[in-house]
Amino acid sequence: MELIAFTGTPGTGKSTLAEEFSRKHNYLYINLNKFAKEHNLFESYDEEKKCYEVDTSLLTKEFLGGIKDIDAKAIVVDSHLSHHLPNSEVSKIVVCACTDLLELKKRLVARNYSESKVRENLDAEIFKVCETEANDQGHELFVVDTAGKSVKECVEEIDSNLV
Ligand SMILES: Nc1ncnc2c1ncn2[C@@H]1O[C@H](COP(=O)(O)OP(=O)(O)OP(=O)(O)O)[C@@H](O)[C@H]1O
Ligand SMILES: [Mg+2]
Repeated sequence: MELIAFTGTPGTGKSTLAEEFSRKHNYLYINLNKFAKEHNLFESYDEEKKCYEVDTSLLTKEFLGGIKDIDAKAIVVDSHLSHHLPNSEVSKIVVCACTDLLELKKRLVARNYSESKVRENLDAEIFKVCETEANDQGHELFVVDTAGKSVKECVEEIDSNLV
């Protein structure tokens, strides 16, 4: 069974593309954030950001244990944490990006995120935090820029680089 992980800054289109890609190929889709929440895999609460911090080693252990008996051709993992899964298990990481920062800002503002949360996510995209972390983990990456493109176009790009 193959694992294909979608990572990237919030709002760059991970869930939109991972869900469409899974549907198209009939792969199993798993949202890793949801999995972490359901399995209570948090190590601390960040008062400033008002969110829970996930214990990524525990998440890896629980997730890999949880999927080992699943009978699927491939599992698509969606989360900005998915690149923390070991590269021995993940065949490819799709890094979703949005190089048009105004477009990304619009997507984040539309979610009613606070000004500081919008800023924080724009900074993460500018500094390519997820891509750098995924690269440092030794993953094989494919970066898809979602700026000014349709979902269909992006999925076709992913297909031609993954299949
Ligand atoms: N080419 C595209 N690919 C993906 N999403 C796009 C594209 N163009 C516009 N969008 C829009 O950008 C938004 C992306 O939101 P989405 O929830 O998929 O991001 P996310 O990376 O999963 O965020 P989070 O980390 O918060 O879960 C959606 O509103 C989607 O419709
Ligand atoms: Mg998402």
